[in-house]
Amino acid sequence: MSIIFEKESNIISLNTANTTYQMQIGKYGYLLHLYYGRKLNADMSYLIQSYDRGFSGNPSDTGEDRTFSLDALPQEFPAYGNGDYRDNAFLMKDADGTFGCDLRYEGHRIEKGKYSIPSLPAAFANDDEAETIVITLSDKNAGVEVELKYGVFERSDVITRAVKVKNTGKRKIFVNRIMSSSMDMLGMDADMITFNGRHGNERMPERSHIGDTALSIGSRRGTSSHQHNPFFIVCDREANEDYGDAYGFMLLYSGNFFAETFREQYGSMRIMLGIQPDMFEYPLDEGESFDSPEAAMTYSETGFTKLSHSLHSFIKNNIIRKPENDGIRPVLVNSWEAAFFDFNAEKILKLADDAKELGVGMLVLDDGWFGHRNDDFTSLGDWYVNEGKLGCSMGELAAKIHEKGLKFGLWIEPEMISEDSDLYKEHPDWAYRIPGRNFIRSRSQLVLDFSRKEIVDHIFNALAEVIDNADIDYIKMDMNRSITDVYTGDGVQNYGTIMHKYCIGMYDFIERLRERYPEILIEGCSGGGGRFDAGMLHYTPQIWTSDNTDAIERVKIQYGTSFAYPPVTMGAHVSVVPNQQTGRSVPMKTRTAVALAGTFGYELDLGLISDEEKEEVRQGIADYYKYNALVRDGLYYRLTDPMKNREFAAWEIAAEDGTEAVVTIVTLDTHCNSPVNYVRFKGLKADAVYRDENSGKSYSGAALMSAGYPIPVIPGEYNAFVLHLILM
Ligand code: GLA
Repeated sequence: MSIIFEKESNIISLNTANTTYQMQIGKYGYLLHLYYGRKLNADMSYLIQSYDRGFSGNPSDTGEDRTFSLDALPQEFPAYGNGDYRDNAFLMKDADGTFGCDLRYEGHRIEKGKYSIPSLPAAFANDDEAETIVITLSDKNAGVEVELKYGVFERSDVITRAVKVKNTGKRKIFVNRIMSSSMDMLGMDADMITFNGRHGNERMPERSHIGDTALSIGSRRGTSSHQHNPFFIVCDREANEDYGDAYGFMLLYSGNFFAETFREQYGSMRIMLGIQPDMFEYPLDEGESFDSPEAAMTYSETGFTKLSHSLHSFIKNNIIRKPENDGIRPVLVNSWEAAFFDFNAEKILKLADDAKELGVGMLVLDDGWFGHRNDDFTSLGDWYVNEGKLGCSMGELAAKIHEKGLKFGLWIEPEMISEDSDLYKEHPDWAYRIPGRNFIRSRSQLVLDFSRKEIVDHIFNALAEVIDNADIDYIKMDMNRSITDVYTGDGVQNYGTIMHKYCIGMYDFIERLRERYPEILIEGCSGGGGRFDAGMLHYTPQIWTSDNTDAIERVKIQYGTSFAYPPVTMGAHVSVVPNQQTGRSVPMKTRTAVALAGTFGYELDLGLISDEEKEEVRQGIADYYKYNALVRDGLYYRLTDPMKNREFAAWEIAAEDGTEAVVTIVTLDTHCNSPVNYVRFKGLKADAVYRDENSGKSYSGAALMSAGYPIPVIPGEYNAFVLHLILM
């Protein structure tokens, strides 16, 4: 039993293998947050100290007791309107325009298994793997009922939360702010680590002290964004990879989001995560309800490594669905950096021949195959094959590629429309534009209103026509701009709902693809990693990590991404040198070693590389198959912090039982007469001896973990060293 309700004390405890989350139905029916952290079996309500506080008001039913104030109590789902002035988790407005409500406990139910959420991604579990508690709060006068749902994943130490709001009154209400997760933690001085960046430089960790000035991140772009990821860590000020309290919070949502932490006047810390409240207003008529996206959280008492391991296991087992979870994903070669828009079937078939010869398993035809698209100004929305350009039909091309023994993949960007397209001529109102106003183009394209079902239907049917007529094994689904000019032409006036409904429409589109083509593997992409989040991973088991394929930049991008997301979710390709984005040249061995820490592939013309490099490609592909089970199922260890250590970067993927590990070291700087650097490994058996398959040398597990491995000093920039350790 992972969920325990103690009647006498009114305490609800959610227990996972190593953590406890505790709430109490407090006086007057207010739901209080007591504790989240190391597993324990104790009544934590003693932590709450109540005093008469100036300017912290008291609900009228407390009578003369001036020590009870929601403004000073740790709460589980703080709503505006009952005396708590802190940034809140729930703000509603009624038909008269009055703000706020006063939510009190109504009841709860405990169920086996894990709840799901209509139209939104949610973690799943077998009935014996997770438990659910639904706690109902309500304000009858305001006509609102709120269900707080918690899913407890015992084995992976993860707890999920989601909220359902229902209009139980007779008049319309508006939800203006709804956080999926909120908690007030007592007695913690903490840092917040967020993962920020830009196009081509995603998920760079940044650590800031949580003080009285709120720290917040979020997106208003219609996607989770390159700039901020809907994942963050709250941790001890001293916490590191192996030490300290660390909490991870992620949102299973790919649209506008918001996260905030701050210390409030009496010292507790509020942590919130949910839908972006800006431009959000959701009306509910009598009997209607709204479901928030799901948040997931984990706690580690030994720092970030354990935190990542819990989230990786949760994502692999409870977010990514079958059949993608099973089996080896094929090594692909993508036409983008090999040919950009300049190709025909002949060129693609040549690319396929060269790829096949070296052992690649799949050819992906990227942008440029439809409408009359030869650059990025045209044709989005016109999803019919440009047979004139290709010189054959898509079905013929796919068949020829299959004849060569390769799988075939196709790039699509369903959410977009070019002004220069037949679709735009026919349906200019299908693009987001506010009538009579100037509008924003980005990459010279506009966004289709995916909040409207008929538009999703049209795009789906057009693409289904292509897919039905060609044997396609993989789809790369892209999204290459942020959303502006939010307006819907379907007569609905509730513009505050559209960004959310857009996201639901986009999920619906992919879900339909998944259902109709269960054998097709879908890779997510938004100009690289602009929509790399746990919501997307429910639909697309791998995501193109970044448009930046420079291996040295990728070291940092993959490092930041790894805090939340497992290597198997990260699309990682070897590309040409000098790199197309940075101009840097990195040896093939190093480019390969870096890409092997993800879902591996190539993004270059394999016919144009030297014989020596071809040999390295063959070796790289062999290594991918050799290490694949480990990369997929193993535990990922960040051995260095490339944001700080500018000399070298190292990471390791070890079998859970410590019998095997792959360690990768990349030198980031080069010196004359260099000193020797040592890197300490992790996750090995201390009392065992390992043989490095790549060098034939043997090492003691204890020695590698406590004294380290001397990085060879050899001339040249950006060297890579890969050790494949097998227990002897
Ligand atoms: C985005 C993707 C690239 C490529 C191009 C095609 O930038 O991230 O990988 O598919 O679009 O236009």
